[in-house]
Amino acid sequence: MTRECKSQQPWSPSSWRELPIQQQPAYHDPRALAAVEASLSRLPPLVFAEEARELRRQLAAVAEGRAFLLQGGDCAESFAHFAADHIRDTFKVILQMAIVLTYSGRCPVVKVGRIAGQFAKPRSADLEQRDGRSLPSYRGDIVNGIEFSESARRPDPQRLLSAYHQSAATLNLVRAFARGGLADLHQVHQWNQSFVAANPLREKYQQMGDRIQDALAFMEVCGVNAATIPSIRETQLYTSHEALLLNYEQALTRKDTGDGNWYDCSAHMLWIGERTRQPDGAHIEFLRGIHNPVGVKIGPDCSAGQLLSLIDALNPDNVPGRLTLITRMGAGTLADRLPPLVRRVKQEGRSVVWSSDPMHGNTVKAANGYKTRSFDRILREIQEFFAVHQAEGSHAGGIHLEMTGDHVTECTGGAYDISEADLASCYRTQCDPRLNGQQVLELAFRVAELLAAGGGVLGGR
Ligand code: PEP
Ligand code: CO
Repeated sequence: MTRECKSQQPWSPSSWRELPIQQQPAYHDPRALAAVEASLSRLPPLVFAEEARELRRQLAAVAEGRAFLLQGGDCAESFAHFAADHIRDTFKVILQMAIVLTYSGRCPVVKVGRIAGQFAKPRSADLEQRDGRSLPSYRGDIVNGIEFSESARRPDPQRLLSAYHQSAATLNLVRAFARGGLADLHQVHQWNQSFVAANPLREKYQQMGDRIQDALAFMEVCGVNAATIPSIRETQLYTSHEALLLNYEQALTRKDTGDGNWYDCSAHMLWIGERTRQPDGAHIEFLRGIHNPVGVKIGPDCSAGQLLSLIDALNPDNVPGRLTLITRMGAGTLADRLPPLVRRVKQEGRSVVWSSDPMHGNTVKAANGYKTRSFDRILREIQEFFAVHQAEGSHAGGIHLEMTGDHVTECTGGAYDISEADLASCYRTQCDPRLNGQQVLELAFRVAELLAAGGGVLGGR
């Protein structure tokens, strides 16, 4: 069946149920699951359709080379680590990165969190073995518990409701931070100055910090301040997560009375992972019918032909900002595999946002058993991403990171030179290793150098 033929087939929020599906939990009580889905479908939406449309317009500017996308947050949010401080610190560090990127890229930065709904995880195996025992794998707090016991690992439909309520509370706080003064540009820059002052590589970052300081002082003299221009103290952080557990996504999908289209109101943006993007599978089917901006992860083995069928399915009308391609190929591999894809998309005149996830192609197991990623390889994949886009005359549109504002030790390297032996001191992730607050700011300064050099920006500067 060709894509053209398929996309003409009627879509409904439940049409995915007719198709093969990957990475789903085996619920023991389908009636309990259906009851939870019915309750969820009566609860208020978490986001409004107009917000999703606004994000799509901002992403259209990214696709056209006039803005940059910064997407990041936890690999997996957790019920146990749910705390205001954690949300605040992630929010702060995203804003801190955005200032540096806005200044050096000379373009707006669209901020999207992996937050307020990032609970479901694809796994490489259905079962996990430990000490001769075999239990269902942990699939994220929306599905089951991380503890290795039979009762915790049993998928529990009530968890969908807990995930919804935690998402609502998280989003409420994010909205308050965005409007309530925490986002004041001067304050955020002061945090950056403290970061630079304390950093072992401060000479490297001081100059950019000082230049931003001068720009803010000049604006102040010109009367551009928080009192006169609200955008100095307010911001917008959009939400996103992997649309993996479709029972949850369907229950939050609503028809907008404004434009009559369907929106998945669990988040502003949804993406499909590398393991669930089968062209004739359930996840593509679900995503093709919702009108939110959507993303799809692209691993090293995706051919140009496969990529085009994904684009045909997800953005048949070539709407700018609708589709973000999130490449996650691994440092070294990306330099080889990305160019033919970028070339083909360009030849075919497809409007997409190209974003780099430098995390998922660079995961390794340390000698002491911890899953980790090195700062240098993460940076190298981003550098290769920029170089490919520059060579192809395309726009390196964004980055997608697993990160936290907390001082965790999950990724190695960076200015503080976290070693494999240090990983044990504060390894808290429920799933994949995240960059900590210092590492991720350092990365922002390094990406800023690429942006300032005109790397990957359409037309250069
Ligand atoms: C993720 O983003 O957490 C993830 C599982 O990514 P991928 O689908 O690229 O492996
Ligand atoms: Co991950």
